[in-house]
Amino acid sequence: MNRAVSLRESSVKNQCEILCKSLETEGYLDNLDSPTINSELSLLSNVYNGRILIADSDFRVVKDTYDVDTGKTSVSKEVVSTFTTGKGTSSYDDRNAYILMTFPLLTASGRVEGVMLISISTNEIVQNTRILERQGLIVIVLALLFVLIIGYFLSGWLVKPFMRVTHAIEDVTDGYEDEAISVPDYTETVAITTAFNQMLSRVRAMDNSRQEFVSNVSHELKTPLTSMKVLADSLNGQEGLPVEIYQEFMQDITQEIDRENKIISDLLSMVRLDKKAAALNIERCYIPNLIEGIIKRLRPIATKNHITLLVEPMPDVYAEVDESKLSLAFSNLIENGIKYNVEGGWVRISMTADHKYFYVTVADCGVGIPADQQDHIYERFYRGDKSHSTTIEGTGLGLAIARSAIVLHRGVIKVNSKVNEGTTFQVRIPLKHQK
Ligand SMILES: Nc1ncnc2c1ncn2[C@@H]1O[C@H](COP(=O)(O)OP(=O)(O)O)[C@@H](O)[C@H]1O
Ligand SMILES: [Mg+2]
Repeated sequence: MNRAVSLRESSVKNQCEILCKSLETEGYLDNLDSPTINSELSLLSNVYNGRILIADSDFRVVKDTYDVDTGKTSVSKEVVSTFTTGKGTSSYDDRNAYILMTFPLLTASGRVEGVMLISISTNEIVQNTRILERQGLIVIVLALLFVLIIGYFLSGWLVKPFMRVTHAIEDVTDGYEDEAISVPDYTETVAITTAFNQMLSRVRAMDNSRQEFVSNVSHELKTPLTSMKVLADSLNGQEGLPVEIYQEFMQDITQEIDRENKIISDLLSMVRLDKKAAALNIERCYIPNLIEGIIKRLRPIATKNHITLLVEPMPDVYAEVDESKLSLAFSNLIENGIKYNVEGGWVRISMTADHKYFYVTVADCGVGIPADQQDHIYERFYRGDKSHSTTIEGTGLGLAIARSAIVLHRGVIKVNSKVNEGTTFQVRIPLKHQK
Protein backbone atom coordinates (compact mmCIF):
# COMPACT_ATOMS: atom_id res chain seq x y z
CA MET A 1 0.00 0.00 0.00
CA ASN A 2 1.45 3.31 -0.87
CA ARG A 3 1.92 6.19 1.46
CA ALA A 4 -0.92 8.31 0.09
CA VAL A 5 -3.39 5.45 0.65
CA SER A 6 -2.27 4.81 4.20
CA LEU A 7 -2.48 8.54 4.96
CA ARG A 8 -6.01 8.57 3.63
CA GLU A 9 -6.84 5.50 5.68
CA SER A 10 -5.67 6.99 8.95
CA SER A 11 -7.48 10.28 8.42
CA VAL A 12 -10.71 8.44 7.57
CA LYS A 13 -10.21 6.27 10.63
CA ASN A 14 -9.92 9.33 12.85
CA GLN A 15 -13.05 10.90 11.41
CA CYS A 16 -14.96 7.68 11.75
CA GLU A 17 -13.93 7.14 15.34
CA ILE A 18 -15.16 10.62 16.21
CA LEU A 19 -18.39 9.94 14.34
CA CYS A 20 -18.85 6.62 16.12
CA LYS A 21 -18.51 8.42 19.45
CA SER A 22 -21.32 10.81 18.54
CA LEU A 23 -23.41 7.91 17.23
CA GLU A 24 -23.00 6.16 20.57
CA THR A 25 -23.78 9.20 22.68
CA GLU A 26 -26.76 10.12 20.53
CA GLY A 27 -28.03 6.53 20.67
CA TYR A 28 -28.34 6.56 16.90
CA LEU A 29 -29.42 2.94 16.60
CA ASP A 30 -32.56 3.82 18.54
CA ASN A 31 -33.11 7.07 16.70
CA LEU A 32 -32.23 6.55 13.04
CA ASP A 33 -33.80 9.80 11.98
CA SER A 34 -31.44 12.06 13.91
CA PRO A 35 -30.84 14.86 11.41
CA THR A 36 -27.46 15.95 12.77
CA ILE A 37 -25.99 12.45 12.66
CA ASN A 38 -27.46 11.73 9.24
CA SER A 39 -26.05 14.91 7.82
CA GLU A 40 -22.67 14.13 9.37
CA LEU A 41 -22.77 10.66 7.84
CA SER A 42 -23.57 11.94 4.38
CA LEU A 43 -20.98 14.67 4.74
CA LEU A 44 -18.30 12.15 5.60
CA SER A 45 -19.27 9.85 2.73
CA ASN A 46 -19.27 12.79 0.33
CA VAL A 47 -15.98 14.18 1.50
CA TYR A 48 -14.19 10.85 1.09
CA ASN A 49 -16.23 9.67 -1.84
CA GLY A 50 -17.17 6.59 0.15
CA ARG A 51 -20.08 4.58 1.33
CA ILE A 52 -21.12 4.13 4.94
CA LEU A 53 -23.25 1.27 6.17
CA ILE A 54 -24.49 0.77 9.71
CA ALA A 55 -25.63 -2.67 10.86
CA ASP A 56 -27.42 -3.47 14.12
CA SER A 57 -26.91 -6.49 16.33
CA ASP A 58 -29.05 -8.59 14.00
CA PHE A 59 -26.65 -7.82 11.11
CA ARG A 60 -29.40 -5.83 9.51
CA VAL A 61 -28.36 -2.78 7.58
CA VAL A 62 -30.14 0.11 9.23
CA LYS A 63 -28.38 2.88 7.33
CA ASP A 64 -26.78 3.02 3.89
CA THR A 65 -25.57 6.36 2.59
CA TYR A 66 -26.25 5.00 -0.92
CA ASP A 67 -29.74 3.90 0.20
CA VAL A 68 -29.35 0.62 -1.69
CA ASP A 69 -28.95 -2.02 0.95
CA THR A 70 -31.09 -0.58 3.75
CA GLY A 71 -33.06 -3.38 5.43
CA LYS A 72 -30.87 -6.14 4.02
CA THR A 73 -28.69 -8.38 6.13
CA SER A 74 -24.94 -7.92 6.03
CA VAL A 75 -22.86 -10.85 7.21
CA SER A 76 -19.51 -9.92 5.69
CA LYS A 77 -16.63 -11.39 7.64
CA GLU A 78 -15.45 -7.94 8.79
CA VAL A 79 -18.82 -7.15 10.33
CA VAL A 80 -19.00 -10.50 12.03
CA SER A 81 -15.45 -10.17 13.32
CA THR A 82 -16.19 -6.72 14.76
CA PHE A 83 -19.28 -8.03 16.53
CA THR A 84 -17.43 -10.95 18.06
CA THR A 85 -14.17 -9.22 19.01
CA GLY A 86 -15.50 -5.72 19.68
CA LYS A 87 -12.65 -4.33 17.65
CA GLY A 88 -12.60 -2.51 14.33
CA THR A 89 -10.97 -3.87 11.18
CA SER A 90 -9.24 -2.27 8.30
CA SER A 91 -8.18 -3.71 4.96
CA TYR A 92 -7.09 -2.46 1.62
CA ASP A 93 -8.16 -4.06 -1.63
CA ASP A 94 -5.32 -3.38 -3.94
CA ARG A 95 -6.89 -4.75 -7.10
CA ASN A 96 -10.22 -2.90 -6.84
CA ALA A 97 -8.60 0.09 -5.15
CA TYR A 98 -10.69 0.63 -2.07
CA ILE A 99 -10.28 0.73 1.68
CA LEU A 100 -12.71 -1.18 3.84
CA MET A 101 -12.98 -0.35 7.55
CA THR A 102 -15.35 -1.41 10.30
CA PHE A 103 -15.93 0.22 13.69
CA PRO A 104 -17.89 -1.18 16.65
CA LEU A 105 -20.71 0.88 18.12
CA LEU A 106 -20.70 0.22 21.85
CA THR A 107 -23.31 0.67 24.51
CA ALA A 108 -22.49 2.42 27.75
CA SER A 109 -21.77 -1.00 29.29
CA GLY A 110 -19.30 -1.83 26.49
CA ARG A 111 -21.46 -4.32 24.54
CA VAL A 112 -21.31 -4.21 20.77
CA GLU A 113 -24.72 -3.09 19.62
CA GLY A 114 -23.85 -2.23 16.04
CA VAL A 115 -21.12 -1.91 13.42
CA MET A 116 -20.25 0.97 11.15
CA LEU A 117 -18.72 -0.11 7.84
CA ILE A 118 -17.11 2.33 5.50
CA SER A 119 -15.65 1.69 2.08
CA ILE A 120 -13.70 4.34 0.27
CA SER A 121 -12.48 4.21 -3.27
CA THR A 122 -8.79 5.00 -3.62
CA ASN A 123 -8.90 5.16 -7.39
CA GLU A 124 -8.51 8.88 -7.34
CA ILE A 125 -5.52 8.74 -5.00
CA VAL A 126 -3.78 6.16 -7.12
CA GLN A 127 -4.44 8.19 -10.22
CA ASN A 128 -3.22 11.36 -8.53
CA THR A 129 -0.04 9.65 -7.52
CA ARG A 130 0.43 8.43 -11.08
CA ILE A 131 -0.06 11.95 -12.41
CA LEU A 132 2.33 13.31 -9.83
CA GLU A 133 4.84 10.64 -10.69
CA ARG A 134 4.59 11.46 -14.37
CA GLN A 135 4.94 15.17 -13.69
CA GLY A 136 7.93 14.46 -11.49
CA LEU A 137 9.48 12.46 -14.28
CA ILE A 138 8.93 15.31 -16.72
CA VAL A 139 10.48 17.77 -14.29
CA ILE A 140 13.50 15.49 -13.83
CA VAL A 141 13.93 15.06 -17.57
CA LEU A 142 13.65 18.82 -18.12
CA ALA A 143 16.15 19.53 -15.36
CA LEU A 144 18.53 16.99 -16.85
CA LEU A 145 18.19 18.56 -20.26
CA PHE A 146 18.78 21.98 -18.79
CA VAL A 147 21.89 20.83 -16.96
CA LEU A 148 23.18 19.16 -20.12
CA ILE A 149 22.66 22.25 -22.24
CA ILE A 150 24.19 24.55 -19.64
CA GLY A 151 27.08 22.10 -19.22
CA TYR A 152 27.63 22.01 -22.96
CA PHE A 153 27.82 25.77 -23.29
CA LEU A 154 29.78 26.21 -20.08
CA SER A 155 32.37 23.64 -21.09
CA GLY A 156 32.66 25.26 -24.50
CA TRP A 157 33.20 28.58 -22.82
CA LEU A 158 35.73 27.19 -20.32
CA VAL A 159 37.69 25.38 -23.02
CA LYS A 160 37.91 28.43 -25.28
CA PRO A 161 41.29 29.71 -24.00
CA PHE A 162 42.73 26.22 -24.52
CA MET A 163 41.43 26.26 -28.07
CA ARG A 164 43.19 29.57 -28.49
CA VAL A 165 46.41 27.98 -27.24
CA THR A 166 45.94 25.19 -29.79
CA HIS A 167 45.35 27.69 -32.59
CA ALA A 168 48.41 29.71 -31.59
CA ILE A 169 50.54 26.55 -31.58
CA GLU A 170 49.11 25.55 -34.95
CA ASP A 171 49.96 28.98 -36.33
CA VAL A 172 53.54 28.55 -35.19
CA THR A 173 53.60 25.02 -36.64
CA ASP A 174 52.28 26.35 -39.94
CA GLY A 175 55.27 28.63 -40.07
CA TYR A 176 53.96 32.03 -39.01
CA GLU A 177 57.03 33.61 -37.53
CA ASP A 178 55.49 34.71 -34.26
CA GLU A 179 58.17 35.37 -31.69
CA ALA A 180 56.11 33.76 -28.94
CA ILE A 181 52.51 32.81 -28.25
CA SER A 182 50.45 34.48 -25.52
CA VAL A 183 47.08 33.40 -24.08
CA PRO A 184 46.89 35.01 -20.64
CA ASP A 185 43.28 33.92 -19.85
CA TYR A 186 43.98 31.32 -17.16
CA THR A 187 46.98 30.48 -15.02
CA GLU A 188 46.97 27.10 -16.77
CA THR A 189 47.13 28.60 -20.23
CA VAL A 190 49.91 30.91 -19.08
CA ALA A 191 51.84 27.88 -17.81
CA ILE A 192 51.28 26.00 -21.05
CA THR A 193 52.24 28.91 -23.27
CA THR A 194 55.34 29.69 -21.19
CA ALA A 195 56.48 26.08 -21.45
CA PHE A 196 55.73 26.11 -25.16
CA ASN A 197 57.63 29.35 -25.69
CA GLN A 198 60.64 27.95 -23.87
CA MET A 199 60.54 24.90 -26.07
CA LEU A 200 60.14 27.11 -29.12
CA SER A 201 63.18 29.19 -28.31
CA ARG A 202 65.20 26.03 -27.72
CA VAL A 203 64.11 24.67 -31.05
CA ARG A 204 65.02 27.97 -32.70
CA ALA A 205 68.42 27.99 -31.03
CA MET A 206 68.97 24.43 -32.23
CA ASP A 207 67.86 25.38 -35.71
CA ASN A 208 70.24 28.35 -35.73
CA SER A 209 73.20 26.31 -34.58
CA ARG A 210 72.35 23.66 -37.17
CA GLN A 211 72.31 26.27 -39.92
CA GLU A 212 75.54 27.75 -38.67
CA PHE A 213 77.06 24.29 -38.55
CA VAL A 214 76.00 23.47 -42.10
CA SER A 215 77.42 26.72 -43.43
CA ASN A 216 80.68 26.16 -41.50
CA VAL A 217 80.96 22.63 -42.82
CA SER A 218 80.38 23.73 -46.39
CA HIS A 219 82.93 26.47 -46.00
CA GLU A 220 85.53 24.15 -44.47
CA LEU A 221 84.99 21.53 -47.15
CA LYS A 222 85.21 24.11 -49.89
CA THR A 223 88.52 25.63 -48.79
CA PRO A 224 90.78 22.69 -49.77
CA LEU A 225 88.75 22.20 -52.95
CA THR A 226 89.30 25.84 -53.91
CA SER A 227 93.05 25.49 -53.36
CA MET A 228 93.16 22.34 -55.46
CA LYS A 229 91.21 24.06 -58.21
CA VAL A 230 93.62 26.99 -58.21
CA LEU A 231 96.64 24.69 -58.30
CA ALA A 232 95.23 22.53 -61.07
CA ASP A 233 94.12 25.56 -63.12
CA SER A 234 97.55 27.13 -62.98
CA LEU A 235 99.09 23.88 -64.25
CA ASN A 236 96.51 23.61 -67.03
CA GLY A 237 96.95 27.20 -68.13
CA GLN A 238 100.61 26.84 -69.00
CA GLU A 239 102.39 24.58 -71.38
CA GLY A 240 105.88 23.12 -71.33
CA LEU A 241 106.42 23.52 -67.61
CA PRO A 242 109.36 21.64 -66.09
CA VAL A 243 108.55 18.36 -64.35
CA GLU A 244 109.70 19.77 -60.99
CA ILE A 245 106.91 22.36 -61.06
CA TYR A 246 104.35 19.64 -61.75
CA GLN A 247 105.70 17.57 -58.87
CA GLU A 248 105.62 20.52 -56.51
CA PHE A 249 102.04 21.42 -57.43
CA MET A 250 100.98 17.81 -57.19
CA GLN A 251 102.42 17.61 -53.67
CA ASP A 252 100.40 20.68 -52.74
CA ILE A 253 97.28 19.11 -54.20
CA THR A 254 97.93 15.90 -52.21
CA GLN A 255 98.24 17.99 -49.06
CA GLU A 256 94.90 19.60 -49.75
CA ILE A 257 93.34 16.16 -50.32
CA ASP A 258 94.77 15.03 -46.96
CA ARG A 259 93.25 18.06 -45.33
CA GLU A 260 89.87 17.41 -46.91
CA ASN A 261 90.14 13.83 -45.70
CA LYS A 262 90.92 14.94 -42.16
CA ILE A 263 87.97 17.31 -42.09
CA ILE A 264 85.59 14.61 -43.28
CA SER A 265 86.85 12.02 -40.81
CA ASP A 266 86.62 14.58 -37.98
CA LEU A 267 83.08 15.40 -39.07
CA LEU A 268 82.18 11.74 -39.06
CA SER A 269 83.57 11.24 -35.53
CA MET A 270 81.61 14.24 -34.39
CA VAL A 271 78.35 13.08 -35.93
CA ARG A 272 78.83 9.72 -34.25
CA LEU A 273 79.36 11.44 -30.91
CA ASP A 274 76.27 13.57 -31.42
CA LYS A 275 74.07 10.53 -31.17
CA LYS A 276 72.55 9.64 -27.86
CA ALA A 277 74.49 8.20 -24.93
CA ALA A 278 72.89 4.85 -25.78
CA ALA A 279 75.40 4.66 -28.61
CA LEU A 280 78.21 4.37 -26.06
CA ASN A 281 79.93 1.05 -26.08
CA ILE A 282 80.85 0.79 -22.41
CA GLU A 283 83.44 -1.74 -21.29
CA ARG A 284 85.69 -2.20 -18.29
CA CYS A 285 88.99 -0.87 -19.43
CA TYR A 286 92.52 -0.63 -18.05
CA ILE A 287 93.19 3.10 -18.38
CA PRO A 288 97.06 3.07 -18.41
CA ASN A 289 96.89 0.76 -21.47
CA LEU A 290 94.45 3.09 -23.19
CA ILE A 291 96.76 6.08 -22.67
CA GLU A 292 99.95 4.17 -23.62
CA GLY A 293 98.25 3.13 -26.86
CA ILE A 294 97.56 6.74 -27.80
CA ILE A 295 101.08 7.83 -26.93
CA LYS A 296 102.55 5.04 -29.04
CA ARG A 297 100.58 6.28 -32.03
CA LEU A 298 101.51 9.95 -31.51
CA ARG A 299 105.19 9.53 -30.65
CA PRO A 300 106.40 9.58 -34.29
CA ILE A 301 104.56 12.87 -34.89
CA ALA A 302 106.12 14.32 -31.74
CA THR A 303 109.58 13.21 -32.77
CA LYS A 304 109.06 14.76 -36.20
CA ASN A 305 108.14 18.06 -34.52
CA HIS A 306 111.03 17.77 -32.05
CA ILE A 307 108.71 17.50 -29.08
CA THR A 308 109.39 15.23 -26.12
CA LEU A 309 106.46 13.21 -24.73
CA LEU A 310 106.84 12.80 -20.96
CA VAL A 311 104.66 10.09 -19.45
CA GLU A 312 104.45 9.91 -15.68
CA PRO A 313 103.96 6.54 -13.98
CA MET A 314 100.28 5.72 -13.83
CA PRO A 315 98.35 3.89 -11.07
CA ASP A 316 96.41 0.67 -11.84
CA VAL A 317 93.03 2.07 -12.69
CA TYR A 318 90.11 0.29 -14.29
CA ALA A 319 87.06 2.24 -15.45
CA GLU A 320 83.85 1.64 -17.36
CA VAL A 321 84.32 3.66 -20.55
CA ASP A 322 83.84 3.61 -24.31
CA GLU A 323 87.48 3.02 -25.22
CA SER A 324 87.46 4.29 -28.80
CA LYS A 325 85.54 7.50 -28.03
CA LEU A 326 87.63 8.35 -24.99
CA SER A 327 90.84 7.65 -26.98
CA LEU A 328 89.62 10.15 -29.52
CA ALA A 329 89.34 12.76 -26.77
CA PHE A 330 92.77 12.13 -25.23
CA SER A 331 94.56 11.88 -28.56
CA ASN A 332 93.09 15.23 -29.62
CA LEU A 333 94.43 16.82 -26.44
CA ILE A 334 97.91 15.34 -26.83
CA GLU A 335 97.94 16.17 -30.54
CA ASN A 336 97.14 19.80 -29.72
CA GLY A 337 99.96 19.82 -27.16
CA ILE A 338 102.34 18.68 -29.88
CA LYS A 339 100.98 21.05 -32.53
CA TYR A 340 100.77 24.25 -30.54
CA ASN A 341 104.21 23.94 -29.09
CA VAL A 342 107.64 25.49 -29.47
CA GLU A 343 110.76 24.03 -31.01
CA GLY A 344 112.27 21.44 -28.60
CA GLY A 345 109.26 21.64 -26.27
CA TRP A 346 107.58 18.92 -24.22
CA VAL A 347 104.14 17.50 -23.50
CA ARG A 348 103.60 15.83 -20.13
CA ILE A 349 100.84 13.25 -19.64
CA SER A 350 99.81 12.05 -16.21
CA MET A 351 96.94 10.14 -14.67
CA THR A 352 95.65 9.84 -11.10
CA ALA A 353 92.50 8.48 -9.50
CA ASP A 354 90.42 8.53 -6.36
CA HIS A 355 87.49 6.30 -5.33
CA LYS A 356 85.09 7.97 -7.77
CA TYR A 357 87.00 9.44 -10.70
CA PHE A 358 90.18 9.20 -12.65
CA TYR A 359 91.96 12.35 -13.82
CA VAL A 360 94.06 12.77 -16.95
CA THR A 361 96.27 15.81 -17.31
CA VAL A 362 97.90 16.91 -20.56
CA ALA A 363 100.33 19.79 -20.08
CA ASP A 364 102.57 21.48 -22.62
CA CYS A 365 105.08 24.29 -22.71
CA GLY A 366 103.67 25.67 -25.94
CA VAL A 367 102.25 28.90 -27.27
CA GLY A 368 99.31 29.00 -24.85
CA ILE A 369 95.74 30.24 -25.40
CA PRO A 370 94.85 33.90 -24.79
CA ALA A 371 92.25 34.28 -22.02
CA ASP A 372 89.62 35.72 -24.37
CA GLN A 373 89.86 32.65 -26.62
CA GLN A 374 89.60 30.05 -23.88
CA ASP A 375 85.79 30.18 -23.90
CA HIS A 376 85.64 29.44 -27.61
CA ILE A 377 88.11 26.63 -28.12
CA TYR A 378 85.42 23.94 -27.71
CA GLU A 379 83.25 25.40 -30.46
CA ARG A 380 83.04 23.52 -33.72
CA PHE A 381 85.45 24.85 -36.34
CA TYR A 382 86.86 27.39 -33.94
CA ARG A 383 90.56 27.89 -34.52
CA GLY A 384 92.61 30.15 -32.34
CA ASP A 385 94.92 32.93 -33.22
CA LYS A 386 94.88 33.38 -37.00
CA SER A 387 98.63 33.98 -37.07
CA HIS A 388 99.51 30.40 -36.21
CA SER A 389 96.32 28.75 -37.38
CA THR A 390 97.46 29.35 -40.95
CA THR A 391 100.80 27.67 -40.36
CA ILE A 392 99.52 24.86 -38.15
CA GLU A 393 97.04 22.53 -39.76
CA GLY A 394 93.75 21.72 -38.13
CA THR A 395 90.00 21.58 -38.58
CA GLY A 396 88.89 23.30 -35.39
CA LEU A 397 86.87 20.20 -34.54
CA GLY A 398 89.34 18.42 -32.24
CA LEU A 399 88.32 19.98 -28.95
CA ALA A 400 84.61 19.89 -29.88
CA ILE A 401 84.97 16.14 -30.41
CA ALA A 402 87.00 15.72 -27.22
CA ARG A 403 84.46 17.56 -25.14
CA SER A 404 81.48 15.65 -26.61
CA ALA A 405 83.18 12.35 -25.81
CA ILE A 406 83.98 13.47 -22.26
CA VAL A 407 80.49 14.83 -21.64
CA LEU A 408 78.96 11.57 -22.88
CA HIS A 409 80.94 9.89 -20.10
CA ARG A 410 79.58 12.49 -17.66
CA GLY A 411 83.06 13.82 -17.30
CA VAL A 412 84.48 17.34 -17.11
CA ILE A 413 87.23 19.08 -19.09
CA LYS A 414 89.06 22.17 -17.86
CA VAL A 415 91.77 24.31 -19.36
CA ASN A 416 94.46 26.40 -17.79
CA SER A 417 96.68 28.39 -20.06
CA LYS A 418 99.07 31.32 -20.29
CA VAL A 419 100.30 32.78 -23.53
CA ASN A 420 103.94 31.79 -24.26
CA GLU A 421 104.08 29.64 -21.10
CA GLY A 422 101.95 26.67 -21.91
CA THR A 423 98.60 24.98 -21.61
CA THR A 424 97.22 22.36 -19.25
CA PHE A 425 94.05 20.40 -19.95
CA GLN A 426 92.58 18.41 -17.08
CA VAL A 427 89.92 15.76 -17.65
CA ARG A 428 87.84 14.06 -14.97
CA ILE A 429 85.92 10.87 -15.79
CA PRO A 430 83.80 8.75 -13.40
CA LEU A 431 85.16 5.25 -12.78
CA LYS A 432 81.66 3.79 -12.92
CA HIS A 433 79.50 4.57 -15.90
CA GLN A 434 76.27 6.36 -15.00
CA LYS A 435 73.32 5.86 -17.29
N1 LIG B 1 97.53 22.88 -26.29
C1 LIG B 1 97.15 24.01 -26.91
N2 LIG B 1 97.95 25.11 -26.87
C2 LIG B 1 97.60 26.23 -27.48
N3 LIG B 1 96.43 26.42 -28.14
C3 LIG B 1 95.58 25.38 -28.20
C4 LIG B 1 95.88 24.14 -27.59
N4 LIG B 1 94.85 23.30 -27.80
C5 LIG B 1 93.95 23.99 -28.53
N5 LIG B 1 94.38 25.22 -28.77
C6 LIG B 1 93.63 26.27 -29.50
O1 LIG B 1 92.29 25.89 -29.61
C7 LIG B 1 91.88 25.83 -30.97
C8 LIG B 1 90.91 24.71 -31.20
O2 LIG B 1 91.51 23.47 -31.02
P1 LIG B 1 90.97 22.23 -31.81
O3 LIG B 1 89.53 22.19 -31.58
O4 LIG B 1 91.75 21.03 -31.42
O5 LIG B 1 91.19 22.58 -33.32
P2 LIG B 1 92.48 22.49 -34.21
O6 LIG B 1 93.53 21.84 -33.39
O7 LIG B 1 92.08 21.70 -35.38
O8 LIG B 1 92.80 23.89 -34.55
C9 LIG B 1 93.15 25.68 -31.74
O9 LIG B 1 93.03 26.25 -33.02
C10 LIG B 1 94.16 26.44 -30.90
O10 LIG B 1 94.10 27.80 -31.19
MG1 LIG C 1 93.22 19.92 -32.48
